[in-house]
Amino acid sequence: MVYHISPLRYIVGAFYRKKTNPITIAGIEFPNRVGLAAGFDKDGKAIEGLSLFGFGFIEIGTVTPLPQPGNPQPRLFRLPEDEALINRMGFNNEGAIAAAARIKKINRGKLVIGGNIGKNKNTPNELALSDYLKCVDALAEVVDYFVVNVSSPNTQGLRSLQEKAPLQELLLGVKQHLAKNKIARPVFLKIAPDLDEAQLNDVAQVAMELKIGGIIATNTTISRSKLKTSEAKVKSIGTGGLSGSPLKSTSTEIIAYLHKATRGEMPIIAVGGIQSAADAKEKIAAGASLVQLYTGFIYRGPSLVKSIVKLIG
Ligand code: FNR
Repeated sequence: MVYHISPLRYIVGAFYRKKTNPITIAGIEFPNRVGLAAGFDKDGKAIEGLSLFGFGFIEIGTVTPLPQPGNPQPRLFRLPEDEALINRMGFNNEGAIAAAARIKKINRGKLVIGGNIGKNKNTPNELALSDYLKCVDALAEVVDYFVVNVSSPNTQGLRSLQEKAPLQELLLGVKQHLAKNKIARPVFLKIAPDLDEAQLNDVAQVAMELKIGGIIATNTTISRSKLKTSEAKVKSIGTGGLSGSPLKSTSTEIIAYLHKATRGEMPIIAVGGIQSAADAKEKIAAGASLVQLYTGFIYRGPSLVKSIVKLIG
C-alpha cells in the first residue's frame, strides 16, 4: 500500500473517519457538517493532523496582514466547573502570507479550509477594509471560503464594525474586490453573541442584501452570567471572551433568530458551547447547516468529532 501520510496517521485517520453525507453550502461541498472553529490553528500549522480526527472543515485564523504577538500572557484561562474558557489572545498570528505558504504545501484531500481574516491591532477602523483585502489576496489561492471576523472582543473597537453602515461598507468592499479579481470564494460573516435584536436585524438585512455566503454564529461573549465558577475567580481572570457551555443557549437563540429573520435563506454555521452530539443536533434544529467546535474539543477531546459526525453526518 502506498501511504501519502505516515502509517500511524493512516491508522488514526481510519479510526476517526466515518461514512458521511456531504453537504453543499455556498457552493462548497463539505464532506461532513463538523468543523474546527477559528482560533485553534490560527497559523495553519496543524491542518493535516487535525483533519485526521474527522473534521470536514478547518478554519484557520484569525490572521491579520502583518504578524503580531497578541496580548501579554497569561491570556487563556480554564473554568473547568463550567466547561468554559476565557481568552484574550488578541489575534496573535504570524500573518496571512505565512499561513498561505503553509497551506499551499499540504495534502488536503476533500477537506474544506476556511480563512478567517481580521485587522491588525494598530490599524484604525477607517482603514480596516484595506487589512481585510490584504488577507484576501494572501489567502485567495489556498482557502475555500473567507470569514470576515468583526466579533473578537480582544481587538479594541473591532466589534463596532458590526454596526450597519460600517458592516455594509466592509462586506461590500470585500465582495467587490473578490469580483474584480475573479476570486470565486464565498464570504461568511462571524458575529458576536452580544448583539441585541435591532443589531441582529441589521446583520440579517445586510447579509441578505449583499448575498453573502453565510453567517457564523457566534464568537465568544463578554458576558459573565450563568457561571458556576466563583465570582472572585472570574474577577481575577479579568477581560476576555468566554466560550464553552455557558455560551450555548445564547448562541443557539441567535441562530434561531437569524434563521427566522433570513427566512431560512441564509446558511448559518453554528459555533458556541457544543460539548456533545446532542448539542450539535440542537444547533441544526435551530436552523444551522454546519457546526464548529473549539472549547468542546478541548474538554471532550477528539471523540467528540466522531460522535457528532455519527449523529448529524
Ligand atoms: C477563539 N475564537 C476565535 N474566533 C475567531 O473568529 N478568531 C479567532 O482568532 C479566535 N480565537 C480564539 C481563541 C481561543 C483561545 C478561543 C477559546 C476561541 C472563538 C471560537 O472560534 C468560537 O467562536 C468560540 O470559542 C465559541 O465556540 P466554543 O468554544 O464554545 O465551541
